[in-house]
Amino acid sequence: MKITMIGSGYVGLVSGACFADFGHDVVCVDKDESKIAALKEGRIPIFEPGLDALVSSNAAVGRLSFTTDLAQAVADADAVFIAVGTPSRRGDGHADLSYVYAAAEEIAQALTKFTVIVDKSTVPVGTGDEVERIIRGANPDAEFAVVSNPEFLREGAAIDDFKRPDRVVIGGDDPRGLEVMREIYRPLVLGRSPIIEMSRRGAELTKYAGNAFLATKITFINEIADLCEKVGADVQEVARGIGLDNRIGSKFLHAGPGYGGSCFPKDTLALLKTSQDYEAPQRIVEAVVAVNDNRKRAMGRKVIQACGGDVRDKTIAVLGLTFKPNTDDMRDSPAIAIVQTLQDAGATVRAYDPEGVEQAQKVLTDVVYCDNPYIAMEGADALAIVTEWDAFRALDLSRVKSLLKEPIFVDLRNIYPRDIIEKAGFHYTAVGR
Ligand code: UGA
Repeated sequence: MKITMIGSGYVGLVSGACFADFGHDVVCVDKDESKIAALKEGRIPIFEPGLDALVSSNAAVGRLSFTTDLAQAVADADAVFIAVGTPSRRGDGHADLSYVYAAAEEIAQALTKFTVIVDKSTVPVGTGDEVERIIRGANPDAEFAVVSNPEFLREGAAIDDFKRPDRVVIGGDDPRGLEVMREIYRPLVLGRSPIIEMSRRGAELTKYAGNAFLATKITFINEIADLCEKVGADVQEVARGIGLDNRIGSKFLHAGPGYGGSCFPKDTLALLKTSQDYEAPQRIVEAVVAVNDNRKRAMGRKVIQACGGDVRDKTIAVLGLTFKPNTDDMRDSPAIAIVQTLQDAGATVRAYDPEGVEQAQKVLTDVVYCDNPYIAMEGADALAIVTEWDAFRALDLSRVKSLLKEPIFVDLRNIYPRDIIEKAGFHYTAVGR
């Protein structure tokens, strides 16, 4: 199949490279000339494990190419995926659909034969209808079908998620459109990934409902963690105790400093906007958003408490800044609120992150960025692990102890057993334990 990806950002690039690896012919389009020039030279603008190798091997055999010429890329395609950004609109939290609609206008002008327009961007219910209306209006003679095909990729594990998905969701009712989609995803059928077809609106809502449910699961265990601290229980034991119930499942029950990233915060807000527009309140999701927002600064206060309640003129070593490991993404990272809370209370922050420093520097000023975890700890009064990068899982504890002024060890991701840290002579603070 000939596939065109409109938008060579995170989703477009990962999906395009994986489709090419399945054997399809893929062209990735972007308006950003410098991004396309870089991709042509094999430079990947984002950090995602394995993506550079996948892009270069498929580009080398000619199955994956990059262009700024949307019209030419669309004219030839069996399917055109819209994979542009849908950020939260400033002011009201609605998903900003201007990039999606602009892409639809441009695609409409370039269609030459029956083409499936696939919406992969995360878009509110009804966007597919609007895309169809735009294309029909701009090019009344065009033959096309609009299909929804939401993505369920986790940053840091995106290639595996794409190639071995729990499911693929395809929304639409045009038989020719569905036929093309089945052909595109046929390589996954061998791996027994379920491919489910439903209405277009159902597929659009599935994406938001999925992310909102996962955000709810995390927030639920975070509140149970707070209760564990009060009643003297261990949230990891409780999470295991409930997670082994198949109806609940053990994933996404890791208590921590709250969820962040480019998806959960934005998609929960957009779902709430949709729920208001349709007068179907989503009170649970409303509570999840509020609880998670409050949690981030509360985690900063937790570090302050671990330091005896006052961090004025103290120095805190912060390990991990990105919203989760294996990404350089700082969007809505809990680390932002945590570092700012510490700074507001008069502390100096020395920080280390394996990939996130460049992005962090754009949002967090007055931080001393360090080249490795141990340099960050030099002369600090306490250590706080904020993101669970593998590199922090086996710290040299005697070295840590010799570098810190006080043996205060705060583990906001619960990656260490309490007894090991305490045996090494630290005061240990975790989440929900
Ligand atoms: C999320 C979903 O997991 C993907 O399925 C979805 O496709 C994607 O959003 C999207 O909409 O594009 P992602 O944001 O990359 O993926 O990251 P997650 O691994 O889901 O983590 C999100 C946040 O939740 C992180 O801050 C993480 O630390 C936190 N989290 C996750 C917890 O605090 N506890 C957990 O048990 C799991």
